[in-house]
Amino acid sequence: MKAKVTVIGAGNVGATAAQRLAEKELGDVVLVDILEGVPQGKALDLQEAAPIEGHDARVVGGNDYEASAGSDIVIITAGIPRRPGMSRDDLLTTNARIIRDVTQKAVQRSPGAILIVVSNPLDAMCHVALKTSGFPRHRVIGMAGVLDAARFRAFAALELDCSVESVSALVLGGHGDTMVPLPRYCTVAGIPITELLPEVRVRAIVERTRNGGAEIVNLLKTGSAFYAPASAAVEMAEAILKDKKKILPCSAYLEGEYGIRGLFVGVPVKLGAAGIERVIEIPLLPEEREALHRSAAAVGDLVAALGRLSF
Ligand code: APR
Repeated sequence: MKAKVTVIGAGNVGATAAQRLAEKELGDVVLVDILEGVPQGKALDLQEAAPIEGHDARVVGGNDYEASAGSDIVIITAGIPRRPGMSRDDLLTTNARIIRDVTQKAVQRSPGAILIVVSNPLDAMCHVALKTSGFPRHRVIGMAGVLDAARFRAFAALELDCSVESVSALVLGGHGDTMVPLPRYCTVAGIPITELLPEVRVRAIVERTRNGGAEIVNLLKTGSAFYAPASAAVEMAEAILKDKKKILPCSAYLEGEYGIRGLFVGVPVKLGAAGIERVIEIPLLPEEREALHRSAAAVGDLVAALGRLSF
């Protein structure tokens, strides 16, 4: 039987994710948005591309959640994106209300689904989705580290003039200014990047990765990145649907791992049919651990602000 993936939010990230899901034939796709006609129109357009792309995924769109019933995965991209001068944190209350609303409606019809959250500020929105859904932590996963690591990998490959496929990277922490790229875990065919590039170039790649989202917001001016975020969410969905047990950096609700409890923070996890099948703890240098804890504290501040605002 074909899998079903619901994508909530038929904007830039959501529609691009729907396209990739369909073209990879990962399952049937349901697009949901509050804008009347938009999810229906984009779904129909994608369906009409199917004969040319050669896939047999059904793509439907709607303003309610009827068609989403029984989804295996729900990808949440609803919300407002950043504009120049805005940080991800500026989206906090607006997007928290939206995430609470869409999570409630989605999980009512898909109580067994795995939620992949994309909306920002990412780690705090995961918190809202976890608490609203009442799902166990292995079924609520944030998309951040795959995107941040992809940016790191892209910049490293450009710098080294080598295939992106040879580069792997690890970025931990919250999806914000405090993210923790780990150059010593960034390798090119197993060789640490720190052996291949001078320190100053590695530092420049780290900085560009940290500002990767803002760089695109400043260029686009009317919205934020969507091709790479959509690719990242679909890689996670694929790992789950195919039970690949892929090791990917994702935002996970920690219960003591890395000395952090009760917060979503980006860490390496194993993604398979059950969702997060394992949180992987790796040894960190004291300064890396400190940076991770600083990043977790920033996530904690947002979660505390949500509590105070009772959004
Ligand atoms: N229910 C369903 N859809 C909603 C709701 C809601 N309650 N509120 C907003 N939306 C929809 C909007 O109508 C819009 O079509 O979410 C969509 C968001 O699309 P874009 O504005 O194009 O934003 P996008 O670039 O896709 O980013 C979405 O992902 O990367 C993050 O920071 C980004 O939080 C943002 C999210």
